[in-house]
Amino acid sequence: MSKFQNSVLGVTGASGQLGRQTIENLIERGATQIVAITREPARLPDLAARGVDIRQGSFDDAASLAAAFKGIQRLLIISTDNLGVEGGRAVQHVRAIDAAEKAGVRHILYTSLTSPYPDPAALIPNDHFWTEARLAAGKTDWSVLRNNMYADAVLQSAKHAIASGKLFHAAGTGGRAYVTRADCAAAAAGALLSAEGKAIYDIGGPEAVTQAQVAALLSSLSGKLVAAENVSAETLKGGMASAGVPAVFVDVMTVFDTDTAQGYLGIVSDAVARLTGRRPQSLADFLTASKGLLTA
Ligand SMILES: NC(=O)c1ccc[n+]([C@@H]2O[C@H](COP(=O)([O-])OP(=O)(O)OC[C@H]3O[C@@H](n4cnc5c(N)ncnc54)[C@H](OP(=O)(O)O)[C@@H]3O)[C@@H](O)[C@H]2O)c1
Repeated sequence: MSKFQNSVLGVTGASGQLGRQTIENLIERGATQIVAITREPARLPDLAARGVDIRQGSFDDAASLAAAFKGIQRLLIISTDNLGVEGGRAVQHVRAIDAAEKAGVRHILYTSLTSPYPDPAALIPNDHFWTEARLAAGKTDWSVLRNNMYADAVLQSAKHAIASGKLFHAAGTGGRAYVTRADCAAAAAGALLSAEGKAIYDIGGPEAVTQAQVAALLSSLSGKLVAAENVSAETLKGGMASAGVPAVFVDVMTVFDTDTAQGYLGIVSDAVARLTGRRPQSLADFLTASKGLLTA
């Protein structure tokens, strides 16, 4: 039995992909009191039918959070997808932490990013850095789950790379410890059920994978030659912009690459294995299992 199996465990963002999968893991692992917080409770009737307490709450509305977090002992705060507004996510996350403290939550868990740092021009690392800083300055115990880039995200760029035969990037020879969303969810559930004190977990896959290696994987799975082409950040930005990628994503994707080139996303750790009891899935195994999606 896990130490906190019978504690009141809360998960925000419960109708998002990571939130829902985390709750599925908690149910499978025998958690007895699960609270799912979402902006849209009507999207979770199946979880309600399985005994999950569904509550309405939005990080944009402190009053909703006061009610939603009542009685929760351990709370997973899932970072939002609100990328359009500078500092918007950090403001939302800090509001959620404030509300959790006021509600008496004892342990807060937060889904961060590998190697966050303060720089307003780097939206995602900046938001996570300031959220982590607020947690560290707070009153509760905490677990920071620094999720590396999802292996699932490779599926989105892979189709274009396979069709064009080119995988443009600005990541140099830097690697990423890609991790599946499913492993992030299993690790989050494991941390909700067992983590104590104040700790940072680098949630990543079993090895750091370069873009040249990603291209080789796509070639072998698709049967079509895909070549990785390392370009400057400016060239990458220009290419994405002319392909119609929205400006905010152009910036975000370029920062991921330049951070990768500096080694920020190459951290490999045993955190997933410690929190789940099994090795994380490799990018190669994940893409092989998703081959149908790649070649469709
Ligand atoms: N590591 C990576 O490669 C990677 C990739 C993509 C995203 N992410 C981050 O990881 C998070 C979870 O990933 P995912 O795959 O589950 O994304 P997703 O399916 O797009 O879910 C987005 C999440 O944001 C929540 N959200 C949005 N606005 C909110 C608000 N005002 N208050 C509270 N929650 C709000 C949603 O909750 P409800 O709709 O239930 O309210 C939902 O859980 C993302 O939101 C993003 O921060 C990481």
